[in-house]
Amino acid sequence: MTFYVTTPIYYANSLPHLGHLYTMIVADAIARSKRQQGIETFFLTGTDEHGINIERAAQKNNRTPQEQADYVVSYFTKMTAAFGLDTAHGGYDIFMRTTNPFHYEGVSELWRRVAQAKTPKGNDALYKGHYEGWFCAACAGYKTEDEYAPPANPDDQPTCLIHDTKLDRVSEESYFFRLSDYDEALLQLYDSREDFVRPAARRNEVKSFVAGGLQDLSVSRLNTSVSWGVPVPADPKHTMYVWFDALSNYITAIGFGNEQQNRALGFEKFWPALHMVGKDILRFHAVYWPAFLIAAGLEQPRGIYAHGMWLDRNGRKMSKTLGNAVELDVLNKHFSIDSIRYFLLREMVFGDDGRFSYENLIARTNSDLASGLGNLSSRTLTMIQRYCDGRVPAGSISDEARLAAKRAGVEDEIAISHFLSHARDEFIREFEELAFSRALEEAWAIVARADKMISDAKPWDLAKDPKQRETLNAVLYRAAESLRWLCVLLYPVLPTATREIYQQLGLADDLSSTNPAELKWGGLQASTKIGEVKPLFPRIDKAKTMEEIKKQESAAGSQEPEAAETRPLGRVLESGAPSNVGVQHSGQHATEADAVPGVAYIDITDFARIDLRVGEVKTAERIPKADKLLLITVDIGEEKPRQILAGIAQYYEPEKLVGRKIVVVANLKSRKMRGYESQGMLLAASIGDEGKPVIATFAEEVPNGARLK
Ligand code: MSP
Repeated sequence: MTFYVTTPIYYANSLPHLGHLYTMIVADAIARSKRQQGIETFFLTGTDEHGINIERAAQKNNRTPQEQADYVVSYFTKMTAAFGLDTAHGGYDIFMRTTNPFHYEGVSELWRRVAQAKTPKGNDALYKGHYEGWFCAACAGYKTEDEYAPPANPDDQPTCLIHDTKLDRVSEESYFFRLSDYDEALLQLYDSREDFVRPAARRNEVKSFVAGGLQDLSVSRLNTSVSWGVPVPADPKHTMYVWFDALSNYITAIGFGNEQQNRALGFEKFWPALHMVGKDILRFHAVYWPAFLIAAGLEQPRGIYAHGMWLDRNGRKMSKTLGNAVELDVLNKHFSIDSIRYFLLREMVFGDDGRFSYENLIARTNSDLASGLGNLSSRTLTMIQRYCDGRVPAGSISDEARLAAKRAGVEDEIAISHFLSHARDEFIREFEELAFSRALEEAWAIVARADKMISDAKPWDLAKDPKQRETLNAVLYRAAESLRWLCVLLYPVLPTATREIYQQLGLADDLSSTNPAELKWGGLQASTKIGEVKPLFPRIDKAKTMEEIKKQESAAGSQEPEAAETRPLGRVLESGAPSNVGVQHSGQHATEADAVPGVAYIDITDFARIDLRVGEVKTAERIPKADKLLLITVDIGEEKPRQILAGIAQYYEPEKLVGRKIVVVANLKSRKMRGYESQGMLLAASIGDEGKPVIATFAEEVPNGARLK
């Protein structure tokens, strides 16, 4: 038996963030769970490297498209290693790149098959036509009227409703895939396979989209407009549409259309795959991809699961464009891989959207991991060390001791093994259904039960009375055996911590191939020598960590967007004090689409680019020969106060400013005036014709460095 799971292959135009990491962690947890069951598993992730978007990113960064892709891939390689997701850490089996030569061969073969195919309605599946319409480079998709916002000025381009960026007008010869002929075949597919598209709500959306009628799909661009792509076989002045190219990676990776790759891996062996995707790209996977596969005469995927999106605390989708993405290097610096994995899988009800905040991540780590699993493990093992000479005690209770044990709140073996087996079965069932959050709740019921038993029985008191020896042993055995079960169950979610606990329990089997379905009560042998007891999940100091995170985020946010896009993992960590060399973007992208005459509105993303901070004036002095300027230093929560020049000398006495709380534009590009560097700007109202400044301040207590938003 084999199992094949995929993540989307990510665009190589910008660096990944928490959202991308999430799908990888989900797929990784699934792959580990299958491997534990002894199923030969293949796990694919990778990058989508062709198309106009990559071409443009390359241009912007002064690179060739291949260099751009290589750059992003090198970040991915570091990132996946840092998060324990690469092959060396038992994660993915292939990092697929659409610039691989074997992929070119494979996707060309797929094209040829589609080009020869007839649709279910007897027409040619592929035909040459002329495309006239709007294209969003960021979506890599053509847009119909209901998918874009019309421009205020009819001569302008409309904007994409998803990305809020201008669309490109495309008017050129193109190959079309006759998608309109596949509606019935697709509806039949969804009806015959209930679990083909999950969850059910998404399946219904897809069904109604298809039932509403499909338009033919333009699947090529002239290489004069998009040159960075796979040439169309037999017509190389066309390049393939990037989604045709990208979707086919799932089969070319395992050998479709390339003999060598096929021998090494095996298309027949691993196909069909379970595709894990974000709901943002469900249509491509659940409509286009199955239609291409029908045309090529290939088997459909095992299933397509669309998960929800990570939103920021204000409910906006996390993305680089919006500037609200959680940076992976900040995450990596402050949290263990396992606590991130646990949080992501526990917090998001799979399929729904989830809100991310560092505060929640810290809270869950402290409550469920440090005080929960970690504490259960360390108290159990420490007591075994202390009261049982570091050897696992016997768990059985003799008839004479039974009553005493019962009084102490220690369950008999039948009851506890029954409880564990039931929780295990539920855990496995929920996990198989990809209901990770519910599966983890089941596992934490085991933690809670073991904890309660210890608190009720109070081994530290039992240890004082030699007559209670059997009860003491029984409690500690039950707790240790529960821990063993927890390790086996939780390995796919917490691969590092479970291995640690396992070692501390004195166990040596490889958790990555221990099947939870085969767990049996009593597997932990009495007198096993336990390992060195070490704390597992240190508590996180919320205030201190949040302060550090905020500093790093503002450092990352104040870099130029291009620089932020190309920041190598670890750069934030190494860069020390935040730089203030940001660019002021205010108003730059103002759109007038829905403006009141005379008002240039900006949208929230424009505003989000301005980093406003609370500052406290530390020093203020006049500058010789500059009667308007004051030189002030302001503490905005950074290592060193900022130096700012403010044109308020005629209205404010320097001494009176010291100690005042003000508002500082923290990511304004620094500049020199009168030989002094000004690293920001303070905000003030400008009154009357003469523009008398009145400094903005706060009526309540506010900490230095707090962000205004
Ligand atoms: N290249 C295409 C996919 C081609 S697959 C044949 C693409 N790339 S992407 O870089 O935009 O990645 C999109 C995927 O990243 C989403 O489907 C999801 O898996 C993940 N996520 C990106 N942002 C996300 C969130 N905010 N939340 C959760 N997942 C997110 O589309």
